[in-house]
Amino acid sequence: MIDFKKEVVSIIHEVVDSLDKEEIESLIEIPPNYDMGDYAFPCFRLAKIFRKAPNLIAEEIANKVELGEYFEKVENVGPYVNFFINKVKLTETVLDSIKEEKEKFGSTNIGKGRKVLVEFSSPNIAKPFHIGHIRTTVIGNSIEKIFKFQGFNTVRLNHLGDYGTQFGMLIAAYKKWGDMEVIEADPINELLKLYVKFNAEAEKDESLKDEARYWFKELEEGNEEALELWQWIRDISLKEFNRVYELLNIEFDSYAGESFYSDKMPRVIEEMEEKGLLKESRGAYIVDLEPYDMPPVLIKKSDGSTLYITRDIAAAIYRKEHYDFYKNIYVVASQQNLHFKQLFKIIELMGYEWAKDCVHVPFGMVSLEDGTLSTRQGRVVFLEDVLNKAIESTLKIIEERNPDLENKEEVAKQVGVGAVIFQELFNNRIKDYVFTWDRTLSFEGETGPYVQYTHARANSLLGKGQFKLEDRVDYSLLQNEDEINLIRLLYNFPKAVLDALEKYEPSIITRHIVEIAKAFNKFYNSCPIMTVEEDLKKARLNLVYAAKTVIKTGLGLLGIEAPDKM
Ligand code: ARG
Repeated sequence: MIDFKKEVVSIIHEVVDSLDKEEIESLIEIPPNYDMGDYAFPCFRLAKIFRKAPNLIAEEIANKVELGEYFEKVENVGPYVNFFINKVKLTETVLDSIKEEKEKFGSTNIGKGRKVLVEFSSPNIAKPFHIGHIRTTVIGNSIEKIFKFQGFNTVRLNHLGDYGTQFGMLIAAYKKWGDMEVIEADPINELLKLYVKFNAEAEKDESLKDEARYWFKELEEGNEEALELWQWIRDISLKEFNRVYELLNIEFDSYAGESFYSDKMPRVIEEMEEKGLLKESRGAYIVDLEPYDMPPVLIKKSDGSTLYITRDIAAAIYRKEHYDFYKNIYVVASQQNLHFKQLFKIIELMGYEWAKDCVHVPFGMVSLEDGTLSTRQGRVVFLEDVLNKAIESTLKIIEERNPDLENKEEVAKQVGVGAVIFQELFNNRIKDYVFTWDRTLSFEGETGPYVQYTHARANSLLGKGQFKLEDRVDYSLLQNEDEINLIRLLYNFPKAVLDALEKYEPSIITRHIVEIAKAFNKFYNSCPIMTVEEDLKKARLNLVYAAKTVIKTGLGLLGIEAPDKM
């Protein structure tokens, strides 16, 4: 596809040789509206060099430049030189590229030969997979897809919380009150009950805490009974989680969780010791991070047991050795900002230069309309229930609007689940947000169903108009403002994807495809397709094809499906 910005740079460079191309490119702005052109070159910098008023320089440049075939007009407005893209060239390059690249439009190969690890979801086993987990799960899923689309070799990691002192509690509780059959019937709820009961009883009876510590120690030391119970808890939890992953259409390359690193820790602790990082403090070992304005990090307790962060240090080192990553990305809530700052600092202090390639991608909290989520108060909303409710409600809507639709259930799943994912990925990830049913499931406004519906509508137009990819088209027929606005958005899609990658921010794509859907519907309302003469009809159908294709790609990068009919 033609890079019009680069063309502007070349044109300006021809007449302004006192700035190099990079400098010119960095100065170019996008005017606030298209009446003022597609690109603007401000002349303030040159005014200093030439000791001349910027307005005069802008006027001179506007008079001197050779526009070539890619621009139809140049104009100076005050200190700016404004360039107007040749609309036929724009249409041609965008629609031809999409026809040629199809669903790959917007992809590149910038990641070739580079491995990127994306760690996301990482729930704690034996605990509910509640709506609070949805963010890491869908943000991580999308980030992985975006990197892959740009040619990176990606690995999807689920760093399960399958280790730690709470398993000591669970094993102790199970041995006291547990019943295997009862638990198998409803694992997470029953394990949660045991956990809650144990904590309540331990408030009254201190000795229970010792029992829990004892069992965790046994687990770390490989006691067979402890290991077996732990394995069983892990298996039944994962089975529960997998139902959610299936609904979301998400898979992982590795479920190596915290437990996987338990036997890799002694070596790491030794290494930290050798490198002089550990300080003893009442039988425990800590890393002092005061010089870096951070609280000290406990690495090993006085009873010898290790901690969450110790396992993370071992995991990072293992990942470097095993995968030799280009980037190691952690999609984890912003509550853990300090944890990751400390983790990366320790890795750096251990002398690993790749500490700089570890990235924490934080995000804000999700809450429900009637207050925040809290496991402790028992007000948990299971993600599975949310997704199922979304599917059910969508099925009802389909029954009303389109009762004859084929495979309604499948479409209801794609739209219902898509709606929830879309809401999640609509706002800047760092913002806290409130989950509301009305907004999520609406077919109007900035929602998943709206975008999916637009895609399906475009698809049905292509069928009705008997669109053929290989038809020759006269692009100069597309002159209407609503057509051109849609084409501009399609042109900017690849940039939006790259921007989303650089900022680890899927919402840039979400918002971009909402804009495309809106522009598409505006075009559809103002430009008749089936009733116009054949050449114009073909040209417009081509635009419909392009919009449909890009919407589908965009939804795919968010982890949302695009049904052809709905
Ligand atoms: N299991 C943790 C939790 O639910 C998240 C793990 C994040 N990843 C990590 N490498 N520390 O809070």
